[in-house]
Amino acid sequence: MQTRKLGPFTVSAIGLGAMPMSMNNDKVYPDHDDAVATVQAALDAGITLIDTADVYAPTWDTMGHNERIVGEAVRTYTGSTADVVIATKGGIVRGEGETRRRDGSLDYLRSAVEKSLTALGVDQLDLYQWHRPDRWMVYGQAIENFKTLQDEGLIKAIGISNANVEEIEVALQVLGEGGLASVQNEFSPRFRSSQDELDLCAEHGVAFLPWSPLGGTGGGATGIGREFAAFAEIGEAHGVSPQQVVLAWELSLSDVVIPIPGARRPASIADSAKAADLVLTEDELARCSATGRP
Ligand SMILES: NC(=O)c1ccc[n+]([C@@H]2O[C@H](COP(=O)([O-])OP(=O)(O)OC[C@H]3O[C@@H](n4cnc5c(N)ncnc54)[C@H](OP(=O)(O)O)[C@@H]3O)[C@@H](O)[C@H]2O)c1
Repeated sequence: MQTRKLGPFTVSAIGLGAMPMSMNNDKVYPDHDDAVATVQAALDAGITLIDTADVYAPTWDTMGHNERIVGEAVRTYTGSTADVVIATKGGIVRGEGETRRRDGSLDYLRSAVEKSLTALGVDQLDLYQWHRPDRWMVYGQAIENFKTLQDEGLIKAIGISNANVEEIEVALQVLGEGGLASVQNEFSPRFRSSQDELDLCAEHGVAFLPWSPLGGTGGGATGIGREFAAFAEIGEAHGVSPQQVVLAWELSLSDVVIPIPGARRPASIADSAKAADLVLTEDELARCSATGRP
């Protein structure tokens, strides 16, 4: 498996997005053992980056659901897990009645980190990402809170998610060049409007993790070849799925790009992992770039 840099880590060029096993638009969930098997199928395929979050859970009172699956899958895997990086997120609060709010305060984030450490069964979080900005706070102040958690040894690397250009620039200023490991934003043929953030990450050597890289659950990912025929046609020419073509095209956009396709089934993540080895011609890549929504 091709590798890429993610802050202090070297990870597989394709990661696993674990969210659909605990939260998805179809509201269909694998049972626990099947979910663990899907994470382990990703590891079998050479994937060493797994993305999760404390809020990935079917209900507000089961927060940590996805982290517990990921933690158990990695702990009980019989192969080597020495290079596995688990990326989790915090900053969103789910409450009774499915209320949601955001909290970037140090006290809240520290308590969220402690819960994530327990759910994952680890002593330090590899990559801790600020899930979504808390608009009640100055952005730079929340980033300083992440830095404090890093200085305390609770987290190894810092990432941000759903951040615009200005917010990335603030994070770079607060953390210094090299201090921001990653930015995770929505990006796919259906959603291209994070291109400016991708370009800024490329300029600074910050890993860019496209979320919902295939177009999301609820039909987006499975229907990507029907929605954008170029991916299906190029896939047919190579004897691979349209989803592999989408991921290979995303990888071609910059060395900092690390897509994290979601999966509930071992077969889909095993297929997606192969995108790291799919070589497309310049013409095919240009055709992919010319398709999709702005
Ligand atoms: N930071 C954020 O705010 C944010 C928001 C959303 C998502 N995310 C992250 O991004 C990850 C990916 O996003 P996502 O799961 O929403 O969308 P996605 O990766 O675009 O699509 C996931 C769906 O694609 C299907 N799939 C995956 N590979 C396939 C293949 N090779 N062939 C056919 N179908 C395939 C899966 O099917 P099966 O389920 O049948 O296996 C799954 O349902 C999430 O898991 C999460 O970690 C982050």
